[in-house]
Amino acid sequence: MSVRVALLAAECEPWAKVGGLGDVVDSLARALGRLPEAGGELEAPIDVLIPRYRSVPLPSTARAEPPLRVADPAGGADLTAGIVDVAADGYRLRLVDIPAAFDRDGVYDHPDDPWRFAAFCRVALAALRRDGRPLDVLHVHDWHTAPALLERARGEAAGDPFFQRMAVLATLHNLAYHGWVPTAGLGQLGLAPGDPLAGGNPFGLDLLLTAIERADLVNTVSPGFAAEALTPVFGMGLDGALSARGDRFFGILNGIDAGVWDPGADDALAAPYRRGDVAGKTACRADLLRRLGMDPSDGGAVVGCIGRLDPQKGLDLLADAAPALLEAGVRLVVLGDGHAEIAAPFRALAASAPDRVALAERFDRALARRIYAGVDIFAMPSRFEPCGLGQMIALRYGTPPVVRRTGGLADSVVDVDEQPGRGTGFVFDEATPGALAAAIERAVRLRAGDPAAWAALQERGMARDFGWETSSAPRYLDAYRRAAALRGG
Ligand code: GLC
Repeated sequence: MSVRVALLAAECEPWAKVGGLGDVVDSLARALGRLPEAGGELEAPIDVLIPRYRSVPLPSTARAEPPLRVADPAGGADLTAGIVDVAADGYRLRLVDIPAAFDRDGVYDHPDDPWRFAAFCRVALAALRRDGRPLDVLHVHDWHTAPALLERARGEAAGDPFFQRMAVLATLHNLAYHGWVPTAGLGQLGLAPGDPLAGGNPFGLDLLLTAIERADLVNTVSPGFAAEALTPVFGMGLDGALSARGDRFFGILNGIDAGVWDPGADDALAAPYRRGDVAGKTACRADLLRRLGMDPSDGGAVVGCIGRLDPQKGLDLLADAAPALLEAGVRLVVLGDGHAEIAAPFRALAASAPDRVALAERFDRALARRIYAGVDIFAMPSRFEPCGLGQMIALRYGTPPVVRRTGGLADSVVDVDEQPGRGTGFVFDEATPGALAAAIERAVRLRAGDPAAWAALQERGMARDFGWETSSAPRYLDAYRRAAALRGG
């Protein structure tokens, strides 16, 4: 008997991406389709459903399914929605086309987000149901797809066998975004205050909490963060609900797609290089620095940082550490978009020392690749990090990372001073500019003072295997089996 699984998410690279969620949905779906041991056990290709945002590029091979009519979650006239099928690389992408909800600029942060994502979940489930085959496991991600659990509860109450059978695995990528719906907004989800489905909080409904309480299994994206999430500091108000799930809440470390992230075959790079032969990395460094208006012949350490400009990422620590680092001859390259106030100090630094600090305030796939390859040291000073992908990519690109000892960063980087023969980077504890600067200075000293040790460090990092197939995709398959079994499937 093969298990039918569908992934429901707000992002999937390269069609719609704000952060790591998009990368993980794409690469996990592809890896699941490739699992040899899943042969015959997991129906392939896997379905991935995301909204058709205005910005989604439609390939000419896209094919429209017949339109669907579903009740608007907020009441009123029915919604007519389309489903557009796209043959993606290794899975089947189905774009849920609800123009009133998604034919707008931007992915998130519209005042009617609860309604937009409730409508998305309802239409997606109607499409999966129309396929005429039972769905064993629905895999939802973050708060955006939590309304699917309200749909299941309604379907179960109505005795609908499709929903009675369907198990749900909820993956939590970020506990900072809850999808909070104040009582006055409950109508967007088709709920009236006091409705048992609304959860009993007199002030409103927390969609992420709804997913945690109602899914058959819940996971987050690293074992380290799964442990941290049970504490008040990292649980962000959800630690109690997560503890209550007992062994039904666990961590599975994200992977990266080794084919997508391969310095030996990366078109964005000036020269290819690989483990054991990193000569091309020097050309990548020169190319990056030239593009940024920095002197390629200056051998001093260049530190790179890539990510959403979000308080989570600890860029303020890097900004505060910057003056001392620049004084020591270090140069900085920062790429990301998001909160303008997080970029402000880097903007000022780049204006006063354009040959020492570069800031690119945008989302730029090619530049990101050139930074992973071209800088000497990669910094991830996150305050919290459910997993983090940048450190894994940096390791694969031979760029030793400096990371805070938190969540998935602590699970994926080993400090070279703590474990000299095994270390792959530099780990620091306190979320302070001083602790970050000290860790970067350790890296700068090793690089300048002991080239052989530095080369060995790079080599160990490049040898780390974060491919999905090795462990994490099989663990998701196990979770699907377990969720289906809990549901009686
Ligand atoms: C979120 C988390 C990040 C994780 C990513 C993918 O962006 O903040 O730590 O790697 O999701 O799971």
